[in-house]
Amino acid sequence: MTDGLRPVSRSHPQSPAVTGRSGVPTDPTGALYGGIQALDRRVTIADLTLAKARHERWPMLTAYDALTARVFDKAGIPVLLVGDSAAMVVYGYDSTIPVTTDDLLPLVGGVVRGSKRAMVVADLPFGSYQSSPSQALETAARFLKESGAHAVKLEGGARVLPHVELLVESGIPVMAHLGLTPQSVNQLGGYKVQGRGESGEILMRDAKAMEAAGAFAVVLEVVPADLAARVTAAIAIPTIGIGAGAHTDAQVLVWQDMAGLTPGRTAKFVRKYADVAGVLTDAAQRWASDVVSGAYPGPENEYQ
Ligand code: KIV
Repeated sequence: MTDGLRPVSRSHPQSPAVTGRSGVPTDPTGALYGGIQALDRRVTIADLTLAKARHERWPMLTAYDALTARVFDKAGIPVLLVGDSAAMVVYGYDSTIPVTTDDLLPLVGGVVRGSKRAMVVADLPFGSYQSSPSQALETAARFLKESGAHAVKLEGGARVLPHVELLVESGIPVMAHLGLTPQSVNQLGGYKVQGRGESGEILMRDAKAMEAAGAFAVVLEVVPADLAARVTAAIAIPTIGIGAGAHTDAQVLVWQDMAGLTPGRTAKFVRKYADVAGVLTDAAQRWASDVVSGAYPGPENEYQ
């Protein structure tokens, strides 16, 4: 995800070290998890609502497979999103538009099976929910029944309110997504900042309407930081920012951006916390050279 704004990383000050009573650094997500060792169950939407009431910030990462989900789950990430960004980072397309429900279902299943404590949110892909509330219900139900997702996410404002209402009435937790909604990239004319000027008030109305419709959280993607801060203060459900500044309740990044697997230039909002591409390249090159030289496999790798 190298072009334009998506995926976006945002710059933010280094978090201060959180220390426990012993002075030993503790997990910064500890409160939401009830302490990283303590939570012996999945995070629920009630936990997230309580975290907002406590003014506690939390992280969400994307995940697309069981082993990565396991790592993030053990690292204390309370919410994992199987984003339609899988279109780009798993399937190699240049936008999120081509990915289908059938493409995403097995990925969601892997993330659910790979995690024990995180809430797993499945993104409803383009074309799988827009045409009617009943289409949205049918697709969301597949994610819950066939892959074990705990919640779904869908993009859009006023137009999808009836869809959100029906899902919530049907017992399906819904994460809304406003601002830069990549499934509408062709209508938006590119991956551009959304909500500047008067359109900020439309976004504010949409966020309040999503809360009233029963959404349990709302992603704010690539919007001005002051607008995101105002929305965060105006609604009681958590806001999850990506390129939305420092004052949202939570932050989300595509993990390959955060960990340095994404090639090329990433968006301004990305901060790179590792060089996974470099580590993998080095491992692959050293293994290849051992194969060529005969140093691999060694006696310890052989069966007698
Ligand atoms: O698809 C995705 O990964 C997303 C997040 C970046 C919010 O929608």
